[in-house]
Amino acid sequence: MRVAVYPGSFDPVTFGHLDILERATLIFDKVVMAVLENPGKAPLFTTEERVELIRAAVAEHPRLDHIEVGTFSGLTVDYARQSGATAIVRGLRAVSDFENEFQMALMNRRLAPQVHTVFLMTAFSNVFVSSSLIKEVCRYGGRVDDFVPPVCAAAMRRKFGIEQSAGGG
Ligand code: PNS
Repeated sequence: MRVAVYPGSFDPVTFGHLDILERATLIFDKVVMAVLENPGKAPLFTTEERVELIRAAVAEHPRLDHIEVGTFSGLTVDYARQSGATAIVRGLRAVSDFENEFQMALMNRRLAPQVHTVFLMTAFSNVFVSSSLIKEVCRYGGRVDDFVPPVCAAAMRRKFGIEQSAGGG
């Protein structure tokens, strides 16, 4: 059984993340989405909320099976080992992602040589999609429905006190 962890902040999960997740499920028997408990980053959503949003997004997605959602603090490689994973999945959007991801992958390999990082490329339509950009757009009333699942768009609007009919798009 090939298990991978897909770690991230997922604040909130986007169509870009789901695209990577779907590709990962084609390669691995089980993919564990691992939500980092990161108080230092002051996330918009609590860990529990981020987990619930992922669960809801996955449930309404037609092609996502064999997925678990977990939370972790500490090192990704430790969580990978605890989960019985031999791989860490990360998405790449543009060259700008590469340097940081390359550094993390090499450090993770140094820490846990038996855990391999697998980079998957997102669909072209998601190249500019990031949780932080989407939060900013939503915060100022822009329309985010093309970038995140409906549950996430609604949850963001609630957080920011935005009316349902957000404009900008
Ligand atoms: O969604 P993000 O914020 O890009 O995810 C970053 C994440 C969670 C993959 C990274 O910050 C991470 O692995 N954090 C856990 C701590 C850790 O293992 N640090 C060493 C990485 S070399």
